[in-house]
Amino acid sequence: MSYHCETMRATRGVVLAGGSGSRLFPLTKTTNKHLLPVGDVPMVYHPIRRLVEAGIDDVLVVTGAHHVGAIVSQLGSGAEFGCRFTYKVQDRAGGIAEALGLAEDFAGGGPVAVVLGDNVFCCPLAPHLEGWTASGKGAMILVKEVADPERFGVARFEAGRLVGIDEKPHAPASRFAVTGVYFYDAQVYDLIRGLVPSARDELEITEVNSRYLLADDLHWAELSGEWSDAGTHDSYRRANKLVDRR
Ligand code: G1P
Repeated sequence: MSYHCETMRATRGVVLAGGSGSRLFPLTKTTNKHLLPVGDVPMVYHPIRRLVEAGIDDVLVVTGAHHVGAIVSQLGSGAEFGCRFTYKVQDRAGGIAEALGLAEDFAGGGPVAVVLGDNVFCCPLAPHLEGWTASGKGAMILVKEVADPERFGVARFEAGRLVGIDEKPHAPASRFAVTGVYFYDAQVYDLIRGLVPSARDELEITEVNSRYLLADDLHWAELSGEWSDAGTHDSYRRANKLVDRR
C-alpha cells in the first residue's frame, strides 16, 4: 500500500473534545470543557473553524459519554460551519491517542488532521497542512515557543534537528511546546494499537509522535501565529484574551 497515494485523498478532520476537564473544575462540574465560552463562541468552535478554513469538510468529533448530547445539540450537523460532522463516543478519559484510535473507520485509509478541542490557533492551518501533504507520508507536529513548556509535550532539538519529545518534563529541554494540531497518515492506528498506558493511565499522543520520529517519519514546523490551550484556569483566561485581541 502506498502512503503517498493515501495523502492524495482528501484529508479528513478529527476534533478531540473528550476528557474530564478536571483542571478547569468547578467550571466543568456539569459542562463539557469544550463548550465553555472563549470569546463569543464555545471553545471548540475555534479549532473546528480552523479545520474548515483549511478546506476540510468531513469532520469527526470524539467526546465522552456524559456530554455527547450537549455536544451534538451545540454543533449539529455541521451545516453552520460548512462541514459534515460524524460523532464518536470515547467511553472513558483514556487519552488523546486512544480517542484518535476511534477515527480509523472514519478516515477510510486516508490522512487526518487532528485538533484538540481546547486549542485556540490565531493563524490559518492550511499552509502547514499543504506543506505536509506535499511531503507524501508520515506525520507532522507544529511547535510554538511558550513561557511554561513543562505543561506540554516539549520538543528536544540537537543542532536544529528534532531528536525527541518529552511529555510534561520537569526540566524542559527547550521552550518549544508541541501544539494540539497533528497530521497523520494511515500508519497511526497500528502505532496506537502498540501503545501502553502512561503513568497517568492514558495513551499519550507524545508516544505516537515519538514513534514516528524514531522511524524518521515525523515532520515539524513552527506555528506561525499566536496559540493557547485553554485547559487550565490560567490558559483559559489567556485564550479568551487572545480571541478578544483579534
Ligand atoms: C496535550 C498533549 C501535549 C500537548 C498539549 C497541547 O496535553 O498531551 O503533548 O502539548 O495537549 O495542548 P494535555 O492538555 O492533555 O495535558
